[in-house]
Amino acid sequence: MKSSKEHWDSIFSGTEDQKLGWHEKNASKTLELLNHIPKWENSKVFIPGAGTSVLIEELLSKGVKLVLNDISLEALNRVRERLGEKCKEINWLCQDISQPILNEIPDIDIWIDRAVLHFLTDKDDIKGYFENVKSILKVDSYALFAEFSKTGAPKCAGLKLHRYSIEKISENLGSSFKLVSHFDYTYINPLGDPRPYVYALYKKEN
Ligand SMILES: C[S@@+](CC[C@H](N)C(=O)[O-])C[C@H]1O[C@@H](n2cnc3c(N)ncnc32)[C@H](O)[C@@H]1O
Repeated sequence: MKSSKEHWDSIFSGTEDQKLGWHEKNASKTLELLNHIPKWENSKVFIPGAGTSVLIEELLSKGVKLVLNDISLEALNRVRERLGEKCKEINWLCQDISQPILNEIPDIDIWIDRAVLHFLTDKDDIKGYFENVKSILKVDSYALFAEFSKTGAPKCAGLKLHRYSIEKISENLGSSFKLVSHFDYTYINPLGDPRPYVYALYKKEN
């Protein structure tokens, strides 16, 4: 089955946040990588497949400006409800992130993907995703990825995954992106199952 709007809408309309298989209580591992970026709190951040992540509030509380993307309107609406007044400061983009972005997007300093890229299994979709990363990010901006590693589970949310190594992410980004930092991290999901991730931060240098 392909990652589709219908699939994700039905998950988000039928499951509370704490029971989602990827739910995090805090975004400490993402923040660990963000701390390599000077003055990241002053950044504009693009979050593809933001879902209902707690990262949204963590970044807003630091003063970060956000563009939130998701294929699921259910997910984005849930975040809108949760944020109330604060959501006025956010740019919203409900679309498949493997497709060209036609909306005007403000200049972005950091792209943060946790557990989204690995759902793209079609070669053209992966290519389209990385074309978006490359066109949105200007020189001196950053891309952060947290994806299921090669030792991770082959499926999540009922979908087959394309799992990643650092080498594979680097290959897709191309030589303009320099690896700044990376680590392996085993996330324990709400059912108590280990989910090995690879975390990586890149800087666009030219
Ligand atoms: C496993 S969840 C991760 C959510 C969030 N990043 C987090 O860490 O909590 C995957 C998210 O990606 C979204 N998604 C899946 N395929 C997508 C696509 N092709 N384009 C945009 N969003 C997508 C889903 O709706 C869901 O919110």
